[in-house]
Amino acid sequence: MIDQDLILAKKLLEKDEVIAIPTETVYGLAGNAFSESAVKKIFEIKKRPFYNPLIVHIASIDKLNTVAKNIPEIAYQLAEIFWPGPLTLILEKKDIIPNWVTGGKNTVAVRVPNHSLTLKLLDSLSFPLAAPSANPFGTISPTQAVHVENYFKDQVKLVLDGGSCENGMESTIIGFENNKVILYRHGAISIEKIESITDQLVLNTYQDSTPIAPGMLTKHYAPKTKTIATLDLKNEIIEFSNFKIGVVAYQNIEIDKNKYTVKILSENGNMEEAARNFYSALHQLDKENLDIIIIEKFPDNSVGRTINDRINRAIK
Ligand code: TXA
Ligand code: MG
Repeated sequence: MIDQDLILAKKLLEKDEVIAIPTETVYGLAGNAFSESAVKKIFEIKKRPFYNPLIVHIASIDKLNTVAKNIPEIAYQLAEIFWPGPLTLILEKKDIIPNWVTGGKNTVAVRVPNHSLTLKLLDSLSFPLAAPSANPFGTISPTQAVHVENYFKDQVKLVLDGGSCENGMESTIIGFENNKVILYRHGAISIEKIESITDQLVLNTYQDSTPIAPGMLTKHYAPKTKTIATLDLKNEIIEFSNFKIGVVAYQNIEIDKNKYTVKILSENGNMEEAARNFYSALHQLDKENLDIIIIEKFPDNSVGRTINDRINRAIK
């Protein structure tokens, strides 16, 4: 059921049920972080390996020290600037955070999401919400309530409807080690923005076999339709001209829109707008029974780097 009923949302969560919640990034599949049965349900519904930890969503920065300890000063600085917002911090966990949320790790991923409905909900609860993105493991992330409903049908009793997600890209994940700030996952906040606050940022090198954050798994965020990416959209389209092609163009492009199914992410190449529309375009094209989806790569800076990261995983 898709609804805006906050009272029902609270009731279900208090009964250890799993519901979908809107955030500014993507929809989350949420349950009481302190409840083993709620968290188990999340893993089951999402078909996610149990070792792959969940992000804990809290109502405000004041709650940070209830879930994490030995919090470095720079973590507070970043949280002050970006929360509520698409920044997830990996910190040493307090004992109150159960191992089943963190996949047995001694760290916990935390963020304050920036969505009025979900902030109201969090405020009304006596526990934080563990929530991964509300999609089956490995598939395209949901940026609208209907995406979640299409994936899970009755398995999720309520999709709290917060409209289309404003950023449309997952949060940026940052950790801290030996006075260094480490990027675990590219996200809605660009590296450039983080670097304007700290000069200690170290980029993670992705390892496929033993991912530290499974958002690092090579294949992820993937449509069912065969998908490729290119910098040269026009030529690639000619190459596949005998096929039923779906095109995801970063900005406006002159091609025959009657012949191909074309999604323009931002007419005039506005990166934020393009990011917001990216997953939604993939959801739509994936329903069209196409032979192939061709995605135009983004300029490799700012949030464009995040989208290119997702594109690279979608085409593996
Ligand atoms: O924008 C977002 O972050 C969304 C919304 C719902 O908040 N959530 C999201 O969750 O993208 P999920 O589970 O799809 O991705 C979270 C990533 C996973 O790759 C997970 O492995 C990583 O965060 N992660 C969680 N806890 C971690 C930890 N303690 N150490 C390292 N990575 C962690
Ligand atoms: Mg995810």
